[in-house]
Amino acid sequence: ATTMRKNYQPPAWLVSEIRLEFELGLELTKCVATMRVERNPDGDGDQTLHLSGDNIAVMNLKVDDADAEGWSMSGPNLLLPLSGDAHKVTVETHLHPATNSQLMGLFASNGMLCTQCEAEGFRRITFFPDRPDVLSRYTVRMTGDKATFPVLLSNGNLVETGENGDGSHWAVWDDPWLKPSYLFALVAGQLVANRDTFTTMSGRKVDLAVWVREGDLERTDHAMRSLINSMKWDEEAFGREYDLDQFNIVAVADFNMGAMENKGLNIFNTRYVLADPETATDGDYDGVEGVVGHEYFHNWSGNRITCRDWFQLSLKEGFTVLRDQMFSADMGSEPVKRIEDVRVLRAAQFPEDSGPLAHPIRPDSYQEISNFYTATIYNKGAEVIRMMHTMAGPERFREGTDLYFDRHDGEAATCEDFVKSMEDGAKLDLSQFRLWYEQAGTPKVTMHATFDQSEGAVTLHFTQKVPATPGQPTKQPMPIPIKVALFDRDSGTHGGEQLLMVDKSKADFTFKGFTRPPVISANRGFTAPIQLDAENNDDDLVFLAAHDDDAFARYESLQQLVTRELLGSIENGPDEKRRGAIADAMGAVIDDAQIDDLMRGELLMLPTLTFLLELAAPADPVALHHARERLKAHIGLRLRDKLIALHERASAIPYGLDARARGARKVKTQALVMLTAADPKEAAARAEAQYRSATNMTDRQGALMVLAGIGCPARSELLADFHARFDGNALVIDKWFALQAGSLDPKVLDRVEALAQHADFTIKNPNRVRSLYMTMAGNMAAFHDESGRGYRMIADLVLQLDPLNAQTAARFIPWLGRWRKIEPKRAALMRAELERIAAAPDLSKDTREQVTKSLDA
Ligand code: ARG
Ligand code: ZN
Repeated sequence: ATTMRKNYQPPAWLVSEIRLEFELGLELTKCVATMRVERNPDGDGDQTLHLSGDNIAVMNLKVDDADAEGWSMSGPNLLLPLSGDAHKVTVETHLHPATNSQLMGLFASNGMLCTQCEAEGFRRITFFPDRPDVLSRYTVRMTGDKATFPVLLSNGNLVETGENGDGSHWAVWDDPWLKPSYLFALVAGQLVANRDTFTTMSGRKVDLAVWVREGDLERTDHAMRSLINSMKWDEEAFGREYDLDQFNIVAVADFNMGAMENKGLNIFNTRYVLADPETATDGDYDGVEGVVGHEYFHNWSGNRITCRDWFQLSLKEGFTVLRDQMFSADMGSEPVKRIEDVRVLRAAQFPEDSGPLAHPIRPDSYQEISNFYTATIYNKGAEVIRMMHTMAGPERFREGTDLYFDRHDGEAATCEDFVKSMEDGAKLDLSQFRLWYEQAGTPKVTMHATFDQSEGAVTLHFTQKVPATPGQPTKQPMPIPIKVALFDRDSGTHGGEQLLMVDKSKADFTFKGFTRPPVISANRGFTAPIQLDAENNDDDLVFLAAHDDDAFARYESLQQLVTRELLGSIENGPDEKRRGAIADAMGAVIDDAQIDDLMRGELLMLPTLTFLLELAAPADPVALHHARERLKAHIGLRLRDKLIALHERASAIPYGLDARARGARKVKTQALVMLTAADPKEAAARAEAQYRSATNMTDRQGALMVLAGIGCPARSELLADFHARFDGNALVIDKWFALQAGSLDPKVLDRVEALAQHADFTIKNPNRVRSLYMTMAGNMAAFHDESGRGYRMIADLVLQLDPLNAQTAARFIPWLGRWRKIEPKRAALMRAELERIAAAPDLSKDTREQVTKSLDA
């Protein structure tokens, strides 16, 4: 069944209040929900109350305290005919958390109970109008065995606790803020807290707690610091203040996604809470900070203002991703963060936007909403709002968001509401800009510069084309904000940045006062999420890589030069002159004392294979992979002495979480990677030394990553050492699996097969499944093994996982769904695996939708 955006109807009945009473047990939890239902004056007057259910049965149903009459089931849902305008409805359900392998609704994880309700998990707990435009006041009472569940948490404020005298105890939580059902949460278990407080700008003292299992407490300081920084930052950057007396974060080991913004009770994948120098990399630290911020920022962009329906998901996710990106940029390095975000967009969102699962940031239809928690909704959604920020400038943007928060506080809003607030508050005309919400596909833009000597005029000729995507064969031109600067070749300077709006299929812009053709730096800061072909020649790119004062643009020109070389070398072999220019430019990057090591690390990184594949399609991914390795080897050979000196300089900097020390660790591993490509044997000794002397996970993992890819004697010894050293620490054992599944070792597929039989592997834990199989699927050389074995392994996994955890299983389909980007032989093998999955009986709605779309389109 397909749900259509255009069919939205307001609910016929609202629920003003709900009281949930739980008798907790891992095997059996009883839930009694008492709702005050009221006819919606804006509804269609339907006499029947529609309550969604999923995998639950009615144990008892009362209307106004009398046995309900005339109710019926329509599939999983409960239909209750009602006369009059307001009633008390009481429904009892029995839940089985220990066998809930889908991790939606109420489930058990490591002996504790917790919930995940977004998007449609609340209906696995009780019968309810489980849609985000029904806002209710929640009171939760839970009772459970004190030894099994010493800690009892829910949304809002703890108002009462007590003992029952039989070894059980109870707690009542009250959430004064109206909320939709997807923000309900409950946690019960043996947890310990890292506690702190935060005083808000108006003087409210908030008790903060990060709840984890006993042994993990010492790894919670970074999460707590990130939370405090987020609370402060949202006050300063967006004027948003926290609105309860408590804020709780709970870490859970079994979780489908990163984390969840439940009101006052955020539930996190342990991966985004736990961090200490010994077990977490610098990247992991950034992940914790970013996700803690993201979930916290949802308190306003998501909770105080929620979504009217799930088609509006990007209203909260796109905006909140932008907010977390801005936060992380302010906490660290803004240009480095921008480069990282663009890399993620290109590697994850561009392929989605050009494939069978392409959808606008505000989709028009879905079969299973869980499939729409995508890079498009999140990351492209953030880019779209970032463009508004670029067009309005920071002050007017803030006026726009102030108006949005003010106007829609307490409502279930739409993307249109946001755009309108931006028009009114930020004083932007967004009439054409709304196309960014409607049209899928990454716009392809070309830029061609001409020079008129007699006029001293440069003209930039732009063209744009938005490619056809499933269901959208023809497109209209979009308004594309492109920041440019025109550099004088001799002085290496420019006369100021300009923001151009390319809003037609062709647009020209003329600039006067030039005596010779300038070098053009375009889409500086990546102002628009497009694929730009700026027709710069190699010399221009080399010039910009050396002179551009926009850090992103500088990075971008080097990336373009490398991309040109890699794509060209597949067809015609390496271009010696260009390879030399790349090595020289990278050498200059190593020597440049003006840039810090964090930025240096970015500049030395080659474009990802997924991004390259986008440009080369249909391509042989393994050939592309080899071309990339060859170029790395070339650079490693040419720059050997510089790279060794860099590695040694960086190795001398002691561990710290400051930018200098973090940058040192980044370039250290980067240098190792290039040296290894050039001379594996020599580099292996260096990597082994780095591993053995490592005081932290960044250095240790970096060294082991390099070693896992080469057939040196230390490889198996150090992998075993790593496992023994961190035995019992699930997040680090995840790394152990991922290091092997993602390595350059030609035997990766054999290893993955063997690792699936390892005692530490379990299909029940999503982090573990991802660490082995998602990593392999993203390892182009392994996944695209010409035998088709990589494809088969992923399809086998999907078939095995789908009945247990449909959401996680469906996330593997896009890898196979990219078959149109791959050369015909492999494409046929990929298709065959999709067809094998499609033929399986009883496929979940999640996997069914993704497979069908991947084959059709
Ligand atoms: N709203 C959450 C976040 O952005 C994601 C939850 C999605 N969960 C799911 N099961 N689809 O942090
Ligand atoms: Zn989110």
